[in-house]
Amino acid sequence: TVAQGPYAERFGGQLVLVTGAASGIGRATAFAFAEAGARIVAVDRDAEGAARTAEMARLIGAPAAWGEAVDVSDEAEMEKLAARVAAEYGIVDVLVNNAGIGLSGSFLETTSEEWKKVLDVNLWGVIHGCRFFGKQMADRGQGGHIVNTASAAAFQPSRVLPAYSTSKAAVLMLSECLRAELAEKSIGVSAICPGIVNTNITATARFAGVDAAEEERLQKRTSRLYGRRNYPPEKVADAILRAVVRNQAVVPVTPEARGARLLS
Ligand code: NAI
Repeated sequence: TVAQGPYAERFGGQLVLVTGAASGIGRATAFAFAEAGARIVAVDRDAEGAARTAEMARLIGAPAAWGEAVDVSDEAEMEKLAARVAAEYGIVDVLVNNAGIGLSGSFLETTSEEWKKVLDVNLWGVIHGCRFFGKQMADRGQGGHIVNTASAAAFQPSRVLPAYSTSKAAVLMLSECLRAELAEKSIGVSAICPGIVNTNITATARFAGVDAAEEERLQKRTSRLYGRRNYPPEKVADAILRAVVRNQAVVPVTPEARGARLLS
């Protein structure tokens, strides 16, 4: 089938790599690019999930799609992935650094190990993607686009998500720095900032070391800050494609995220 629709002209035949593509926002994003006729590299540490996304992407309209089992926090694995993708599929036109993990709990109760785990995936995973794939894009000299999934938490301080929010604030800043550096190469960089979206990360989010009553209180507080849990990942995917087309720098997605941006 020949892809049609508003994005087909822009993305048809392009090579799009999405991390965290086995689930939620990443999977919806891979499907949206597939619908536009892009070739898809679906990366996730969940090998089976990545393979399934690739298979479904082909059914949806991707002329080719591959699943790659990689842990984005592992520098060596990401460097190897970049080399393998370039050799076997080509230079990536659109990179979506989306893999991430959640962590809730008080600042003082969060252990150094937990801080490190969140920063390893949410921050270092993005840095690795930007460095290895960004370098290839810059060297090729034909432009491209990098999208990093930050969060409304990047500009909304909270008592419930200190490590997560810190990791996302760093992603927001690194995106803006890289955007400034890559502009002369015609490579755009966008930071996507959704509020609460209906995915596994929110369905399974738990607050460490609190009882049920406290858990409920904290969940309510989170909802007040970031919104309810029914925002569909497909709408975030659409915002990602739009951000590439319009070359937008920072994109608050859900109504709560737009509100938080205005407050900050
Ligand atoms: P999800 O849990 O449904 O999907 C995350 C995917 O990333 C999973 O498939 C997981 O296996 C993968 N992943 C996790 N660590 C990885 C690693 N080290 N290497 C490779 N893959 C890894 O969650 P969701 O919501 O789709 O999250 C996607 C991104 O959106 C994350 O960066 C998250 O922080 C961000 N986000 C999510 C929001 C939400 O409310 N769901 C709101 C704002 C941002």
